[in-house]
Amino acid sequence: MSQILSVWIEEGCITCDACQETCPEVFSVTDDTCFIIADVRTDGKFDQNEGQATIKVEIGTELADDIVDAAEGCPVEVIKFTTGESTDAPVEEAAPAVEVVAEEVEEKDDSAIEIPASLLEGNRDLMILFGSQSGNCEDLAATTAKIAEQVSLNATVVDMAEADLATIASQKRVMIICSTWGEGEMPDNAQALWDAAIGAGAPSFSGVNFNVCALGDTSYDQYCESGKNWDDQFEAMGASRVATRVDCDVDYEPAWKLWLPEALGALASIDSSGTMQQEYVSAFIEILSPKKKSAGAVAASGIEQPDIEVSLSIFRYNPLMAESGRDTYDVTVPGHASLQDVLVMLKETQDGSLTFRTSSGAGSNPLCGLSVNGNLVLADCVRMIDLMAGAGEPAKIRIEPLPGHQILKDLYVSTKALDVSRERAKPWLRTIDRVGANTPQGTVIGVMSSTKATALHAMNDLVSDHLLHSLSETVPHNPSYLGPAVLNRLWVKVNDPRISKDCKEEMREILQGTDGVWAESDLGVMARFGRMGQRASQNYNDCRSELLRAHRFAGKSGRHVKWFCKTVKSSGTLNETILAAQTMGPIGAIANLPATLRMALGFTRTGGPMVRDLQGWIAPGKMPPIINKSVHDHHEVVALFNEFDKRF
Ligand SMILES: Cc1cc2nc3c(=O)[nH]c(=O)nc-3n(C[C@H](O)[C@H](O)[C@H](O)COP(=O)(O)O)c2cc1C
Ligand code: SF4
Repeated sequence: MSQILSVWIEEGCITCDACQETCPEVFSVTDDTCFIIADVRTDGKFDQNEGQATIKVEIGTELADDIVDAAEGCPVEVIKFTTGESTDAPVEEAAPAVEVVAEEVEEKDDSAIEIPASLLEGNRDLMILFGSQSGNCEDLAATTAKIAEQVSLNATVVDMAEADLATIASQKRVMIICSTWGEGEMPDNAQALWDAAIGAGAPSFSGVNFNVCALGDTSYDQYCESGKNWDDQFEAMGASRVATRVDCDVDYEPAWKLWLPEALGALASIDSSGTMQQEYVSAFIEILSPKKKSAGAVAASGIEQPDIEVSLSIFRYNPLMAESGRDTYDVTVPGHASLQDVLVMLKETQDGSLTFRTSSGAGSNPLCGLSVNGNLVLADCVRMIDLMAGAGEPAKIRIEPLPGHQILKDLYVSTKALDVSRERAKPWLRTIDRVGANTPQGTVIGVMSSTKATALHAMNDLVSDHLLHSLSETVPHNPSYLGPAVLNRLWVKVNDPRISKDCKEEMREILQGTDGVWAESDLGVMARFGRMGQRASQNYNDCRSELLRAHRFAGKSGRHVKWFCKTVKSSGTLNETILAAQTMGPIGAIANLPATLRMALGFTRTGGPMVRDLQGWIAPGKMPPIINKSVHDHHEVVALFNEFDKRF
């Protein structure tokens, strides 16, 4: 089993708390940054662990998945770690031959061609030369150097201002990452080296294998001119180009990312004598390529759908600048691709900074919910073809983060509000002593009737707490309201026969309280969100009915419901006149004389002819809205009030 050897935090933490929420045993977020907790480290320090000290074996093994989740969930991708094979031996002895950097943790199938150990021995130096004015190329060079470790290259990042031609000429592997400035000019730090390279007396680069990553901006006439110049010049000086140059526009990261496996793979295939071992290039590329959760993988399942042309309008939020807006991409994607496949594809090819939660399998991570054209979906479960209904012609899809949760970056939301509600309500089981039964294995288990167990399971069939929390119209406007996810869990627990009496009472009080089930403004909205919404609103209605009964129809709402039910019971339909008279009572009837007169004269609307409305001229008075409808169950009455009267 793979284990984490060390974990550290690079510069740029935005103290969003996400990692601490995911793995509090390892990450602790301070006011300024995130620390790796002393207890889990072999050096016992409490800091960002920039020195990359190892973590304890048991932590690296038991919490490996949580650490990976935290790293993947970090919106600014500053959590890094190394992995290796788990072993009982101390960590120091378990150091792997090839370390894996956090972003590239997917399993690789490099079994097809085995790379000989001899190729990984001897000189494995790689010089990464950068020419940079504002730091982009320098950053890319540093990241490239780390990734190069995956293919056992010892990379050294060299500022062109400090490089000399003789040293370059002695290298076997060189990568150039250079931007263009002015009007097609070298960045300042590259100018002297360039002048020397094109000057008389420049050495031969005949033993050098190289490739070039050029950064630029297509809005300039001389696009990526410096990179092109270096590419030509190295060749002119006798160096061998391995992998074609990549020209990267302003949003340079996706293009660089796509190019890197091929470029590093080629350089890694050069043996210590400087000879290219072509047959191993693909094996190195395989190691360096992140395994795609691509549409192709979905196609393999055999459920293919035709391609779809769609315009995706994606919500963006940059927490560093506190700026929000939308990005629009016109794409053609397979209809069977999941929404998550498409977002991953956009991140890899268009904008590496796009941030969202992912899931490793259909529905396995309920946190990857998104709002698509106002509907809440799990991004890894929903196919693009299924999103086309209501997307219009040409198809347009608006993708937004889950409502009701705090947005950390782009489509990535915090689960904190829900966690706080959960912490307040404590919707977990505190049991009574129960009758047990002996199993054939000799262990004792609690018993529950299968009917009850089935009913509880049905009530609890709610897919995702985070989606459910977002279904509510009230949550975004009432921060103290506990929300449907927590309240549904409470209601299920109240119905669980294993719960203790005290616990049940406590939960009922929370359900009945100001932040409980009565605070939800409109169950109709919830019920429109498919099976989960219907289940949740049914739970609300059942819970409200039960609470009304338990509190003997006390309070304004209780009184209405009580008489509502009585009128329905006696007439089969709702009679608003009786309802109004009964709920107003004698004093209310005198105080509202015009309305009482209308009722006494039979002017109220009970489905009669329209002309009756005109009788209001004779006896004016404000009547409650009419509801003239057959109802069968008490909870339907409550639902009618929700729909028409907005009293609950
Ligand atoms: C003043 C200025 C001049 C630029 N001139 C060019 C140019 O002539 N050709 C080009 O392709 N890009 C040009 N660029 C774009 C840069 O090469 C690009 O922003 C690059 O990512 C900068 O990388 P660096 O931070 O490593 O220098 C220019 C940018 C600026 C700000
Ligand atoms: S998830 Fe990333 S940005 Fe957020 S606190 Fe942790 S390290 Fe910092």
